[in-house]
Amino acid sequence: MAILVTGGTGYIGSHTVVELLKNNKEVVIVDNLSNSSKDIVDKIEQITGKKCKFYEVDIRDAEDLIKVFNENEIDSVIHFAGLKAVGESVYKPLEYYDNNVIGTIKLLEVMKASGCKKLVFSSSATVYGDPGTPKYTEELGRGKASSPYGATKITIEEILENLYASDNTWTISMLRYFNPIGAHESGIIGENPNGIPNNLMPYIQKVATGELKELSIFGDDYDTKDGTCIRDYIHVVDLALGHIKALEKLEKPGIYVYNLGTGKGHSVLEIVKTFEKVNNIKLNYKIAPRRAGDLAEFFADPSKAKKELGWEAKKGIEEMCRDSWNFAKNAK
Ligand code: NAD
Ligand code: UFG
Repeated sequence: MAILVTGGTGYIGSHTVVELLKNNKEVVIVDNLSNSSKDIVDKIEQITGKKCKFYEVDIRDAEDLIKVFNENEIDSVIHFAGLKAVGESVYKPLEYYDNNVIGTIKLLEVMKASGCKKLVFSSSATVYGDPGTPKYTEELGRGKASSPYGATKITIEEILENLYASDNTWTISMLRYFNPIGAHESGIIGENPNGIPNNLMPYIQKVATGELKELSIFGDDYDTKDGTCIRDYIHVVDLALGHIKALEKLEKPGIYVYNLGTGKGHSVLEIVKTFEKVNNIKLNYKIAPRRAGDLAEFFADPSKAKKELGWEAKKGIEEMCRDSWNFAKNAK
């Protein structure tokens, strides 16, 4: 029996495939390569010494997906495929709804028709909106989306709840990620977006390699310890391991939701200083105006995942910064 990983050549997907293969699971990847490349499959093989199947397929193409299900015995699906740039989603809302929401509906239809009813879905802390407290627990429920991207995640979570309500033989796990950074310790895979990055760590990486001149720190006048925003950064390998634990939970039908974060908040300046310290590099940065839509501070309450999945993040920001640079300096 195989596990289908949609978006498996992407940043989080590729690290998760590595952990699945290390656990001797059979893996089938589908990805349309809109934000990744096929050589990631070889890199996964290089790290693990194991093979996985790859299909260049868009999840919105039901015929192609059916073919994948017909050619493989798919037992469960980890669904990463989607567009994820918050800012871009404001300018391209229709593309985001089409890709993320319609794509997920197509996938669910094909799964249903194939009798495969086990799903792990990549959700995001963004579904909490602005709940008025920095510590996000699952009980807070979903808030108001702050972007079309966030709205797609909220909508998909609702669709999954509706689906389970209609047929409680499904087993669905919705994982709300906080801020994934870092890379595989080998330095072979990591995050290397095309163009100018939106997210903090990919931007820092490109400043460190000299591809970008300086980092703009968006605001130093927030009500936080050093005035810069606070987030819960989680090592991508810890995040990947959370998926392995969530898969084990799929043995029992139900709909589950878990925060995947460390429970610790770190400021932008702390990340910059730690990156400089552990890598012995000077980063050019300036303080710039606040970025629209940023919240001052939020971090996960990860206790539910610890209690129910037996999962907790192990790696700290030193390791995250070291592994990010170890990858980026080779990827340049
Ligand atoms: P990524 O862009 O690196 O990976 C997504 C992969 O999906 C890419 O390889 C892309 O080519 C593929 N893809 C996109 N649309 C597709 C489609 N229609 N059909 C087939 N493949 C398609 O992103 P990531 O950081 O690995 O994120 C994975 C998931 O986790 C996404 O759903 C994202 O929204 C979610 N997430 C990410 C973060 C983050 O900060 N990275 C935070 C919270 C949630
Ligand atoms: N930041 C900078 N300069 C930059 C980029 C980011 O100062 O060039 C700051 C931001 O202002 C923020 C922090 O670094 O304070 C982190 O920003 P990211 O863009 O890396 O991450 P966000 O917290 O804004 O967004 C992340 C994910 C989204 C998700 C959101 C909520 O990228 O997918 O968390 O979970 F929706």
